Amino acid sequence: MKLQGQTALVTGANRGLGAHLVQELLAAGVLKLYATARDARTLAEVARADSRVVALDLDVVDPESVAAAVQAAPDVTVLVNNAGVLAFGDVLTGDVEGFQRDMATNYFGTLNMCRAFVPLLERNGPGAIANVLTLIALAPVAPMAGYCASKAAAHSMTQALRAAVATRGIEVLGAYPGGIDTDMLAGVDADKAAPAVVASRIIAALNDGESLVFPDDASAGAGAVYLSDPVALERLLAG
Ligand SMILES: NC(=O)c1ccc[n+]([C@@H]2O[C@H](COP(=O)([O-])OP(=O)(O)OC[C@H]3O[C@@H](n4cnc5c(N)ncnc54)[C@H](OP(=O)(O)O)[C@@H]3O)[C@@H](O)[C@H]2O)c1
Repeated sequence: MKLQGQTALVTGANRGLGAHLVQELLAAGVLKLYATARDARTLAEVARADSRVVALDLDVVDPESVAAAVQAAPDVTVLVNNAGVLAFGDVLTGDVEGFQRDMATNYFGTLNMCRAFVPLLERNGPGAIANVLTLIALAPVAPMAGYCASKAAAHSMTQALRAAVATRGIEVLGAYPGGIDTDMLAGVDADKAAPAVVASRIIAALNDGESLVFPDDASAGAGAVYLSDPVALERLLAG
């Protein structure tokens, strides 16, 4: 969907990838942008940068907060579900509460947002939704088993959503980045893409009406493996 003149909403816009997604949407020419965060005071810098930005409180896990955001942002045409959390732990020994937190935010939080905003996007349509998933939604890595499962659930939901809204004038993009250099992976020694690069490729794919994007060099290579042989990616990441 061409983003010029659209009204977008980004979750988790106060830092990390979300703050860069805001910049890229503004650069793509959106008319208005709701930058949202659990604590809107943390959006001061993002909001100061451009008069098109409206700062809003939004906790994607809290249904009342999501319903309030629908009321506060009735003109949205583009929803970017970026908010996410990561608890480290492997499948046999990881803290189950961490697994549950990841599932609550990454799966149920994203689901809450999609369900709440689809009627509004349909009314304002045509519309678009971008869900920020991860390459490791498609095949897990051992130390992030709960996170991978939560993102795999969100991936499946994204596919179901795409089919459910196809006749309602709403496009759905799934984004599958590899490691990104943000707070989420602070302290992890791995190749990490610059969040500005990842954000620009996600927004370009959204603008081009793509269904799927691997928005950095590492995920593009691994994504090609996945598309030709999903079991080969599973073996690669398990190793
Ligand atoms: N970093 C990576 O390597 C990587 C790779 C692939 C995909 N991703 C995905 O990219 C997205 C952005 O992550 P990031 O790397 O930018 O991580 P980050 O720097 O840790 O930022 C996470 C963002 O999500 C927000 N958030 C968490 N729980 C929320 C909730 N219940 N309601 C609203 N906002 C909430 C955080 O807000 P607070 O400031 O209030 O905590 C923060 O703005 C996530 O979906 C993540 O899974 C990240």
